[in-house]
Amino acid sequence: MSIENIAKQMVAKGKGILAADESTGTMEKRLKSVNVECTETNRLNFRETLFTSSSMRDNISGVILFDETLRQKSSSGITIPELISKSGVLPGIKVDKGAKPLAGSKNEKITEGLDGLKARVEEYHKLGARFAKWRAVLSISADQPSMLSIKANAHALARYASIVQEADMVPIIEPEVLMDGDHNIDKCYEVTSRVLNECYKELELHNVNLKGTVLKPNMILPGKDCKSKSSTKEIAKKTLECIKNNMPKEVPGVAFLSGGQSEIEATRNLNEINKINDTSFHFTFSYGRALQQSALKTWAKSMDDKENVHKIFNHRAKMNGLSSKAEWTEKLEQ
Ligand code: 13P
Repeated sequence: MSIENIAKQMVAKGKGILAADESTGTMEKRLKSVNVECTETNRLNFRETLFTSSSMRDNISGVILFDETLRQKSSSGITIPELISKSGVLPGIKVDKGAKPLAGSKNEKITEGLDGLKARVEEYHKLGARFAKWRAVLSISADQPSMLSIKANAHALARYASIVQEADMVPIIEPEVLMDGDHNIDKCYEVTSRVLNECYKELELHNVNLKGTVLKPNMILPGKDCKSKSSTKEIAKKTLECIKNNMPKEVPGVAFLSGGQSEIEATRNLNEINKINDTSFHFTFSYGRALQQSALKTWAKSMDDKENVHKIFNHRAKMNGLSSKAEWTEKLEQ
């Protein structure tokens, strides 16, 4: 399949992406929060439970995996990418090596992982991956993000994207503006606009085929500690406007990250964005926490009761599938 068709499939209506690519360090935090030891077996068991649920066929277009998972075998003997593909879902892979301190700046980060990336993505393709993810992290404070962090991260994202496309895979472009802080929603709008703008300048400079990419941005939200809360309508309106003003027409769609929103908030906001969407862009989800939280809690209590974990995960995936078509209502949650 061409990268343009893969990108379209990733943001197909009614479906979205499951971000299950937590690094071992992040997985340690997640498992600790539910009092489960972070062993390779436990990480695989939880993930395999999700990957064998029926919503994989119905509401999931792609799964982002961590290097460890891409190489693991499922309990039925086939590899995890084979298991995922059997449900008609595209396997993807996180290829960045994490956000590290940015030299020349205080408290800002630059995502690393470009060295040797070409050889790694070629191997990932052989192992079954058809798309990749690279996450840049930008934070808001009185004088940040700096121009340096915006430019350095946009440059790295573009270098990554062109390398990934050369290996016939779709790069997910993820410049995440964090929710941490007490800034208001307009500050988030202004910073996200600058960040997206710089990313697309660099992507074009690096000759990236935008039709074969998917954008994974934050929604436009007030900071976590901001005193003035925003309505769902305001969040949706500002998010849509920000994307319309900064994302080129060639990009087939957007798969939002959840970034610390609750499961319901992430679903409600996506639904509202689709309700007012007057563009040809597809808006869907690429959620980690907002898809897995309840399933993880249930799994931790009863690891062998796969049916129950499936029920919880299927519900969340279905709700988000509906919001990708603007068909979700609050009532369906009861
Ligand atoms: P969250 O939805 O939990 O923000 O995770 C998505 C992701 O892939 C972050 O890189």
